[in-house]
Amino acid sequence: MKNAKPIRKSSSRITDIVEQYPKDRQSLIPILQDIQDRFGYLSEQALDRLGGMINMSTNEIYGVATFYTQFRFSPPGEHNVRVCQGTACHVRGGQQILREFQHRLGIDAGQTTSDGKFDLERVACVGCCALAPVVAVDGKVHAQVTAKKVPALLSQYTGNKDTAKT
Ligand code: FES
Repeated sequence: MKNAKPIRKSSSRITDIVEQYPKDRQSLIPILQDIQDRFGYLSEQALDRLGGMINMSTNEIYGVATFYTQFRFSPPGEHNVRVCQGTACHVRGGQQILREFQHRLGIDAGQTTSDGKFDLERVACVGCCALAPVVAVDGKVHAQVTAKKVPALLSQYTGNKDTAKT
């Protein structure tokens, strides 16, 4: 997500979000979704602030949020890489492709590279099964990706021919 906003002044914005919902545990998921939409991720600071408002500990909230793959806990990168792990992509090597991205970028799914260039997500079907296996970068779908094609694909976004290690 390129439109992530700084977490500064987050307290009042989190208050604005929480005020739209009943202050109970059933509201937790939609509140977390709104916070992520607003800031691009769930920061520790945001979860602390939220916990005080809905009477849950940060650890409890974190425990719930980590159950769902939709939530991220680090700031989004400049480029968002989504590797499909739906059935059609999985049977055509989706896992190996994800592993190759993890290796090349030096991060796990759900993380952002230290230079902030890429964040990596594992996603379910992105609706292009006929093109499987599929990777979407910044929303652009790349069809019939293989692990061998990963370096060239990444270099389109870095301009660096040997992104990264071999
Ligand atoms: S399973 Fe990957 S696009 Fe449908």
